[in-house]
Amino acid sequence: MGQPAFVGRTAELDVVAQAAHKAAAGEPSLLIVEAAAGIGKTALVRRAIEGLEGFSVWWASCDPAEQDWPFSVVEQWLRQADPRSEANSMVTDRGLGPHVPPVMVGARLVELLSTAQEVGPVIVVVDDVHWADEASLTAVGFMLRRLRADRVLVIATARTEAGAGAAVDGLEGAVPPARAAQWRRLARGTPRVRDLPLEGLPQQAVAQIVETAGVRGAASQALAKRLWELTGGHPLYLRSILAANTADTLIDQDAVVLVSASLEGAVRQMLARLPAPARAMAEALAVLDAPVPPAVAGTVAGLEGNPVQALEPL
Ligand SMILES: Nc1ncnc2c1ncn2[C@@H]1O[C@H](COP(=O)(O)OP(=O)(O)OP(=O)(O)O)[C@@H](O)[C@H]1O
Ligand SMILES: [Mg+2]
Repeated sequence: MGQPAFVGRTAELDVVAQAAHKAAAGEPSLLIVEAAAGIGKTALVRRAIEGLEGFSVWWASCDPAEQDWPFSVVEQWLRQADPRSEANSMVTDRGLGPHVPPVMVGARLVELLSTAQEVGPVIVVVDDVHWADEASLTAVGFMLRRLRADRVLVIATARTEAGAGAAVDGLEGAVPPARAAQWRRLARGTPRVRDLPLEGLPQQAVAQIVETAGVRGAASQALAKRLWELTGGHPLYLRSILAANTADTLIDQDAVVLVSASLEGAVRQMLARLPAPARAMAEALAVLDAPVPPAVAGTVAGLEGNPVQALEPL
């Protein structure tokens, strides 16, 4: 089955567009898209920006490998500026490094944004801000606190913070509370902050993905319903399942539904990091494959302790 096209999210696209238009009219803001891993944060922001005209875009993607690299976020933005500009020479002349105070870089960002605004409004994106380096965060915070009537929209996307309890902090996809607290500093003192949470796609949007994947007619409705039940409309899981199965398998309620090797690997990694009782409960629940009281799952798991407590990290 083919690659699913972008579907749904009309209301969310509207929120981004409105924030952008307000920014263009001199009402800057910080838009925070905080939601689960793989739910479609990056795709949404990209799509929203594609639909806008007349904006310059500075886009930085954060990566765990670069979280200790000072100014890795700012550097990406500066590289997108005019190659003849001073901003760009700041990168090429190695003017950015651990020796430079972050507030000075923040002040430069403010200057550069004023120059950029002479041409038109600017959208500044920091994707996966939970992996942003400390120096960039300080510089960006400095910049945000100085936006007044600027024609600037800053968009930050972040994965949801891991739930309370140290056991889940290291999970793939979830952000440890300490990291989340770091990027949340950005909202402090920023004139306007808007939150845009994202949930799974509705069944109707899943049906559109199914159709673009080439399944049509009555089968497409049944498949959309089944996929939505299996994934809660989570686009990454949807893609994974669509790629690993035929439509016939998916519609057959008794068939075993496969997930892609990469998703399977990620789930295995998550399970491996859980405490043994939690893992045993997950395995028991998978075998039972039905809603049961925790005590029943605990018995199947062969647990000696409290089954409700064992479920907590899950
Ligand atoms: N509205 C949508 N319609 C169709 N496909 C989508 C939609 N949203 C996301 N996807 C697809 O789902 C996958 C995950 O989306 P995306 O990478 O945007 O998620 P994310 O929330 O940014 O994930 P991460 O937390 O890893 O950064 C991508 O392959 C993307 O193309
Ligand atoms: Mg993303």
